[in-house]
Amino acid sequence: MIINTAEFLLSNTNPAKCPPPVKPEYAFIGRSNVGKSSLINMLLNRKGLAKTSSTPGKTKLINHFEVNGEWYLVDLPGYGYARISKKEREKWEGMIKTYLTKRQNLVTTFVLVDSRIEPKKADLDFINWLGEAGLPLAVVFTKADKLTQNSLTSNIAAFKAKLSETWEELPVSFITSAENSMGRSDILSFIEAGNKDFKEYLNNNSPQN
Ligand code: GTP
Ligand code: MG
Repeated sequence: MIINTAEFLLSNTNPAKCPPPVKPEYAFIGRSNVGKSSLINMLLNRKGLAKTSSTPGKTKLINHFEVNGEWYLVDLPGYGYARISKKEREKWEGMIKTYLTKRQNLVTTFVLVDSRIEPKKADLDFINWLGEAGLPLAVVFTKADKLTQNSLTSNIAAFKAKLSETWEELPVSFITSAENSMGRSDILSFIEAGNKDFKEYLNNNSPQN
């Protein structure tokens, strides 16, 4: 897929105020500082589109972007950020889980996992929650440029081994780097295929049929 246009649409905390669910949508989520905004900018080839920061927990809103006038990309707030209160965490959970379960046009949720570290409970719990809710997901290992091929391979194997404890068939996964664009074309092809499926679904379920 060639990215011709990518623009920020709106941010909000209320899932009901998202753009009308008429275009296929892809959400990006992960622990704070995992590299969500960097990955989004890399995928869309727009440096400052999604705000990156060295301060964890900066993205607190549901951020919608429109790509090629054809699909929506959503930058969601990070989870597992230690320095927030229980009340804030519950507020986050309510907002995100409402968004994920109610959003009719959501094709796939990309769950970002830092490839440099051992499997984290917050990531496994979140992936398992999506699975139990029957929501399609893909795992994206981030920051692959930051470690050796050996460490990368063994960290990913360790994560998949953990997932295998609860998943019969593992979700699709991608290995990425926002530094050198690793994984970019694979993710964009995956989205392109999702867009095609979405269109077919709409055609097959339109009122005329
Ligand atoms: P919050 O929105 O604050 O939760 O963070 P985020 O998940 O959006 O992470 P962000 O993209 O802001 O990146 C966090 C830090 O990791 C920044 O300093 C990025 O420059 C760095 N980073 C992100 N992706 C990569 C990557 O692929 N390679 C390297 N080397 N650094 C990365
Ligand atoms: Mg961010």
